This record gives sequence, structure tokens and C-alpha cells, in this order.
Amino acid sequence: MIRLAILASGNGSNMQAIVDAYKFGILKSLAEVILVISNNANAFVLERAKRENIKSVCMERKSFKDDESFNKNILAELQVANIDLVCLAGYMRMVDKEILKVYNGRILNIHPALLPKFGGEGMYGHFVHEAVVKSGEKKSGVTVHFVNEEYDAGKIILQKEVKIFKDDTPEDVARKVLEIGHKVYPQAIKRVIEEKRG
Ligand code: GAR
Repeated sequence: MIRLAILASGNGSNMQAIVDAYKFGILKSLAEVILVISNNANAFVLERAKRENIKSVCMERKSFKDDESFNKNILAELQVANIDLVCLAGYMRMVDKEILKVYNGRILNIHPALLPKFGGEGMYGHFVHEAVVKSGEKKSGVTVHFVNEEYDAGKIILQKEVKIFKDDTPEDVARKVLEIGHKVYPQAIKRVIEEKRG
């Protein structure tokens, strides 16, 4: 069984989708969420973890004296829990270099657009969908990719498109993209695990 950790800052619907895929779907007997870490004390993802009986840790940057001690604590939590694979799910911070080194090729992220378009610093959450609609795109989608030292630039694992209709608002696009992401993220995790097993 692969031991997953989720890093999340908000609602946690992607965390829920991954947990559900382990309980009822394609991650059954394959990958279990062992740990949820959130950098936001008010994030609903912490409530979801409680409901699912999953260990959760809240670590806000402001509770630490500097970035280094904040990141050290995240890494320690991952290592103490023997985590194999880290999934960012609406995690609105850059992952630290040291964590990237230790978990090289084992950190995934879901991005709410078809990378390499609409990625990079500042392109997250609703900003992405606003930019997509503003530029008149006919499609958007989700991308699950490996995380490296650059925002949204790691190797792509899986992408899936959604259509954009002419009257769609950024909220409409966000809803479609979020929904499709709930299917794609567990699929991408499965693919990574299978590829690592060879
Ligand atoms: C998702 O749409 C995810 O793709 C996006 O945040 C949302 C999190 O939703 N991630 C990013 O924008 C990362 N750059 P959730 O908290 O319900 O899983």
C-alpha cells in the first residue's frame, strides 16, 4: 500500500476525491491517505480529514520564525509518517527545495488549466479561470504534473479537457474543471504508482 500525504490550503474537494478513490474506487488496495497537512487553520480540508479519521496537521507559516523552520517541520511530518507520495491539492505555497530533494519525483500537483498555458506564479484558483475566459479560449481543463522548483512546470502526468461555451463565466469553467479533476487526480496517482512499480 502506498502511503499518501495531502498538502492543501482550502476546501479539500480533491483530497476527498482521492480518499473516496481509495475507499470505493480506482485507488482501492493501492494508495491510502495517511496524512493531511494544511497551512491554513480555517481550511475545510482539516474538517474533512477529521471526518475521515485521517491524521491532520495544521501548520501556518506565521507560527514559525522563518521559512526554514516551517519547511523543516513539514518534511519531518512527512518522514515520521513514512509517506511515499505527496499530493498537492489546492496547496497555495511553493514547495521547499529540501522537500523536493527528499521527495524527488514523488510530489504531484493538480492545476486547473491545460498547462503549459495559464500556469506560473499568480495563476491559481479563480485567477486561472478569469484569465482563460478573458482570452476567449474554447477549452480548458486540468493537468496533474510532477512538482519541481518552478511553478507548474514539472513533467505532465495526465491532462483532461473541458469545453468552454460562449456564455460560460469563470465560475462555470471553475465548476467543470474542478469536477473533472476529481476523476483525473486519482487516475494520475494510479498511473504514477504503476509506472514506479514497472
Ligand atoms: C482546484 O481547482 C485546484 O486545481 C486548484 O485549487 C483548487 C482546490 O480545490 N489548484 C491550484 O490553483 C494550484 N495552483 P479543493 O481545495 O476543493 O481541492
